[in-house]
Amino acid sequence: MAGKKLLITDTILRDAHQSQAATRMRTEDMLPACEILDSIGYYSLECWGGATFDSCLRFLNEDPWDRLRKLRKALPNTKLQMLFRGQNILGYKHYADDVVEQFCRKAIENGIDIIRIFDALNDIRNLEAAIKYTKKYGGICEPAISYTISPVHNEDYFVKVAKELVQMGADTICIKDMANLLLPYDAYSLVKRLKAEVNVPIHLHTHNSTGTGDMTYLMAMQAGVDIVDCALSPLGNGTAQPATEPLVATLKGTEHDTGLDLTKLSEAAKHFRKVAEKLKAEGFLDPKVLNVDTNTLMYQVPGGMLSNLISQLKQANAEEKYYEVLSEIPVVRKDFGYLPLVTPTSQIVGSQAVLNVLNGRYKSFTKESKAIMKGEYGKVPGEVNEEVRKLAIGDEEVITCRPADLLSPELDKYREEIKDVMQQEEDVLSYALFPQVALKFFENRKKAAEGPKEEPVAAPAQPVAPVAPAPAPAAPKAPEGVRVLYVEDLSIV
Ligand code: CO
Repeated sequence: MAGKKLLITDTILRDAHQSQAATRMRTEDMLPACEILDSIGYYSLECWGGATFDSCLRFLNEDPWDRLRKLRKALPNTKLQMLFRGQNILGYKHYADDVVEQFCRKAIENGIDIIRIFDALNDIRNLEAAIKYTKKYGGICEPAISYTISPVHNEDYFVKVAKELVQMGADTICIKDMANLLLPYDAYSLVKRLKAEVNVPIHLHTHNSTGTGDMTYLMAMQAGVDIVDCALSPLGNGTAQPATEPLVATLKGTEHDTGLDLTKLSEAAKHFRKVAEKLKAEGFLDPKVLNVDTNTLMYQVPGGMLSNLISQLKQANAEEKYYEVLSEIPVVRKDFGYLPLVTPTSQIVGSQAVLNVLNGRYKSFTKESKAIMKGEYGKVPGEVNEEVRKLAIGDEEVITCRPADLLSPELDKYREEIKDVMQQEEDVLSYALFPQVALKFFENRKKAAEGPKEEPVAAPAQPVAPVAPAPAPAAPKAPEGVRVLYVEDLSIV
């Protein structure tokens, strides 16, 4: 095959700091680098969605919509990309279609070009609305296949899903390997098949937690992959994406030359090195994230999920049960129909495995486990163990339709609820996704507008340099007892 230029998406403004630094990069840490980033010639910059939205409101006292508008203005020549969790949008439950429509519309109006849409179960019915509305409002639609390994997840399965997504209107297809499980030769084989059978560009997303990411990209490129996700070196590798510069240097002068200028990349990296230093000083970036995680290679459990388990076991004073839980995970995963392990299913399977080990197998269920068994999240990829289902939900009826078909429009209700504090239509969406967090943010915003008062609303934004050793902010409060931790810091993306 004749060579072609490999296109690069840089995730420095989203997944890189979500995976390495608890999503704590601030808008003011991004803006000074935008001019140089915009001149590099990336295929796109992933800069919004995922946990950034929640983190803006919850931790940074920033309006995520305002961040998007600022980035759009500062990056006029580069496509901006976001990550969107199907019918969950950026939250943790299914939303009605009118909310999905309005979110797609406002994201695109405020500056997003490409919406990458995934569903943890690969139930394409959960992607339908987001695909439809991304296209309706003129966005580039990139549905993603959540990659995992199981007896039901083989190449035929992934190709079938990809073909269905193309029929639904995909402009490009993403292979989303959130856990870095896609090994180099498997990547070669999968991409080869997709390129032969699917007629849209293939975009590969992986992490480097298991240390195989660069090799996976190289092999995928040999098989004809069109676009890969990298992160500038200061926040690249480890739990984030393979670093951008080494790949660019590797391909320089070859038929796959990315065309990106290493001098410019180095200038951008210089800025983000300072940002990374600051995140380290603030206690959000632990150098451990750079370690090669061999447990993931052995157990096929995403790295982020392992740290989540450790923290749940700590809360229950049962850290010594770690390896028992690790071996319980495949049992739960099989009984639940071979779920890919990505937010939120990673938390659901992990928490159930913890419960099984601590209380006895299936003696109790989390609310979310019951919801999976009831079909509330959609159709699971494999067969559910019916005995376990019976234990979880008794004789309750299982949902077999598209789950969102059971939801009535809800946007007007949300709008009504915040009419006193609302300043822009976008506020309705912030509130719909994170009700308490958004309300608190709106109140703070109002107080700040009324003038400087005795009560500072949030930690003042800190300049990038010089690095002042700030007091390490408290980690998010761990909830009592063993339960699903819906803390995005621990999510697998
Ligand atoms: Co990711």
